[in-house]
Amino acid sequence: MDRIIVLDFGGQYCHLISRRIRDLGVYSEVKPASTTKQELFKIPNLKGIILSGGAASVYDKTSPKCSKDILKFKIPVLGICYGHHLIAHLDKGEVLSGTAGEYGVTELTIKKSSKLLKGFSKGKTLVWMNHKDVVKKLPTNYSVIACTKNSPIAVFEDNQNKIYGVQFHPEVTHTTNGMKILKNFVFDICGAKREWDTSQVINSIKQEIKDVIGKRKAVIGLSGGVDSSTAAILVKEVIGKNLIAVYVDTGLMRYQETEFMRKVFTKHKLNLKIVDASDRFFKALKGVTEPEKKRKIIGKLFIDVFDQVAIQEKAKVLIQGTIYSDRIESGITQHSSIIKSHHNVGGLPENMMLEVFEPLKNLYKDEVRKIARKIGLSDEITKRHVFPGPGLAIRIVGDITPKKAEITRKASYIIEQELKKVGLYEKVWMAFAVLLPIKSVGIQGDARSYKFPIVIRIIESKDAMTANFAKIPYEILEKISTRITNEISEVNRVVYDISNKPPATMEWE
Ligand code: XMP
Repeated sequence: MDRIIVLDFGGQYCHLISRRIRDLGVYSEVKPASTTKQELFKIPNLKGIILSGGAASVYDKTSPKCSKDILKFKIPVLGICYGHHLIAHLDKGEVLSGTAGEYGVTELTIKKSSKLLKGFSKGKTLVWMNHKDVVKKLPTNYSVIACTKNSPIAVFEDNQNKIYGVQFHPEVTHTTNGMKILKNFVFDICGAKREWDTSQVINSIKQEIKDVIGKRKAVIGLSGGVDSSTAAILVKEVIGKNLIAVYVDTGLMRYQETEFMRKVFTKHKLNLKIVDASDRFFKALKGVTEPEKKRKIIGKLFIDVFDQVAIQEKAKVLIQGTIYSDRIESGITQHSSIIKSHHNVGGLPENMMLEVFEPLKNLYKDEVRKIARKIGLSDEITKRHVFPGPGLAIRIVGDITPKKAEITRKASYIIEQELKKVGLYEKVWMAFAVLLPIKSVGIQGDARSYKFPIVIRIIESKDAMTANFAKIPYEILEKISTRITNEISEVNRVVYDISNKPPATMEWE
């Protein structure tokens, strides 16, 4: 199968480039900048190489570089932002450490027609910039295709050797017709064939599962979310009964979750083990208010439970349903920074008995959902909202008690139910309740009350990296609010969270 390799120079959109190419139906994966030319040569059906963006300057001693020989492979190369500078630098052009960078949407003037910009007419178009350095002098045999106010060489090409550079980011949606540029590169310049679809993704993940797990037994932490459910079914299809799916009831799960899990996964013939560990979780979390500490305690307890099951079952591998956005926010990729040490990946203890394997680690949420549908997971799983590993623990601000868990769970259930009734549940990323560690005055019946407030959090997002609060009609919010205060006697006030991410995060902790 034809493939395009993206070399990672640390840009935050590096993985997005490869995802966009997969969207075009061509297989693409990200490799570290340090990948040697020999390693690249060995890749079968390599049709093109993309050098990603990155925050460094090509003149920094420590900045990531690749071998200059990549430009002599006779395989098309496209440099994006830092990659654009790097091509110029490697091929004896000149890069100026910028004093006048460009950030955000910028006007690009196309001066000359080029295979890369096929379909664009000469003149102006909008692109998305994020750089401080600029290419000042072209390498020999290259020509300038387009410029901006601050980047006199914003697009260049060496048509004969099929080497191209763009100062802007075609992979982000703010660049008008950015996909057209990637399409031109992948199909017209690289000549790659459209051979990548969901079935291929599934086959390649299954092959990896076979290679990594072999004849060993494995356990998977099944949360009931789409990621771990998809990972579980894929692994089960490869290793059958050698997979033990462990659902841990932490006491911090969604409403009637255990019944739901039993019902759904019995249908899928999973070797399912339900462990009620709620007492252990509440005991370990008693009095703990610090969010990161909560995550560590929960991560450790999960692993203790998995270890116990693994010992009983003689399993050697722990499967996790981690996906790409979990890893990038936890600072797992080579050059990314830690936003907060969250997600199940960040919560794992360092010394573990089990080998961790994450078969979905390179996929985005919507890609996982597509796979989930293809392998027969029903809508009740594929359309389900994301639920964090630590569960309600990070939605109860401050210390956690079984009572508070019950209040938060019930309030979240009411929110979900009301959104489902009006067809809004599937349109939003997540909808849940947050319980605050304060009390406020209210009046219920004829008496003054002093009770907890509940925060309603309903957000829209495409990839969990950014999010907006959902503009839910007031009547629906009012219905939710009234039901919460009527049905949960410990609550007398409901507020709606109108913060976007950034600056807020989706979860409150
Ligand atoms: P934030 O709060 O970081 O959430 O904007 C982004 C997405 O990640 C989920 N999330 C977590 N998932 N363990 C998880 O497994 C965690 O500790 C965690 N924290 C946040 C969150 O629910 C949202 O979908």
